[in-house]
Amino acid sequence: MSRYKVPRGTFDILPADSYKWQFVINAFREVAREFNYKEIVTPIFEQSDLFERSVGENSDIVEKEMYKFEDKKGRILALRPEGTAPVVRSFIENGLILKPNSSKLYYLGPMFRYDRPQKGRYRQFYQYGIEDIGSSDPYVDAEVIAFAYIFLTKLGLKNFELQINSIGCKNCTEDYDNALKSYFTPFQNDLCSDCSKRLSKNPKRVLDCKVKTCNAIAKDAPSMLDYLDEECTTNFNKVKEYLTAMGIPFMVNPKIVRGLDYYSQTAFEFIDTNLGAQNTLIGGGRYDTLAEQLGGKNMPGVGFAGGFERLLLSMEEEKLSFGQQQTPKVYLVTLGDEAMSAGIKLIMELRRRGISTEFDPDKTSMNAQMKAANKTGAKFALILGENELKKDKIILKNLANGEQKEIKIADISDSMLKK
Ligand code: HAM
Repeated sequence: MSRYKVPRGTFDILPADSYKWQFVINAFREVAREFNYKEIVTPIFEQSDLFERSVGENSDIVEKEMYKFEDKKGRILALRPEGTAPVVRSFIENGLILKPNSSKLYYLGPMFRYDRPQKGRYRQFYQYGIEDIGSSDPYVDAEVIAFAYIFLTKLGLKNFELQINSIGCKNCTEDYDNALKSYFTPFQNDLCSDCSKRLSKNPKRVLDCKVKTCNAIAKDAPSMLDYLDEECTTNFNKVKEYLTAMGIPFMVNPKIVRGLDYYSQTAFEFIDTNLGAQNTLIGGGRYDTLAEQLGGKNMPGVGFAGGFERLLLSMEEEKLSFGQQQTPKVYLVTLGDEAMSAGIKLIMELRRRGISTEFDPDKTSMNAQMKAANKTGAKFALILGENELKKDKIILKNLANGEQKEIKIADISDSMLKK
């Protein structure tokens, strides 16, 4: 037993699973290529203040979940809990608005939130996400949503639902917040302690509280959609029109508010209809004032992020394929010291030619080496003994059907091993 364990809420991705991760990461990169998004990589830690200003002082993330620490020079830093604020920070800092092909960005990487771990919720989790910065055209909202939809459907997922809402702009929220406060105040004692606090500062958050009593009370709460001003209504209608034109099924859920403060107008979630409590595969929305809040110019933006862990759970639930676990093409078997010397020269040559080759110097007998070859799932064994070496030959054995032939070492061709 190891004396050490992974920290609570974290996990190792082991070799038996890492190919699944590679599969979904490759699929995500492929959709990014199709939609012409470019990768951006930002640091894993940032000034803590960046998240306080953007995600919001009163959000659960900033209030309770941030890994905040002081470095040796007294700087207050935080392990990033999400990717949007860092991307917008970098966008402003590097003047990407002026550079061609730089406004459609995607990212992949670990995020950190100190929350109670459960199935689908971890303290270190891996997000994939995109941000499209610079346009307030509702077509862009629809395109961002389309990206997420295409990604999920390409993986083969079926049991999910796209829910969309508009949470309006500053103009509409004041009246709506007041309406919510008047609605919820008579129930204040029945709300959970978090919601009771949220009521004064951020009453919208009560709408998506998972606690049963809050949920029941929120059922008859006024709908945001009745409080949207003309511009927000028109925008929301346009987003719906574009989604319909793109053939993307959706439902309007006026209770989607999102837990981060930077959102305005479009908000959306892709919900897995089979997963348990942590069933949001992807969440996103528009954030038109975020860049300005972070000291940049007025640069509207929209994006989404999803967690790979939940995606893998959903794919496993739907019994979808993750492609093939990687296996070597060739396993080299040698007998005797001279054959081994010649053999290791050969495997380096094969690897240089792009043919994955395995060799285990600890397995001495022919039997042990052949067993090992079969265990790795290699397609071919190349067997080199002193006799073959004298003739400059080698035995090529197809491990699937047992067929074997003796060939000249110099004649080993790529096409022979392609079969
Ligand atoms: P978020 O809703 O906080 O949004 O997270 C997005 C997704 O990340 C969730 O739907 C879920 O799949 C995954 N996720 C979040 N927390 C955890 C966790 N503790 N464990 C496992 N998975 C988790 C954002 O992060 C925004 N930055 C999304 C965005 C991008 N909005 C606009 N652009």
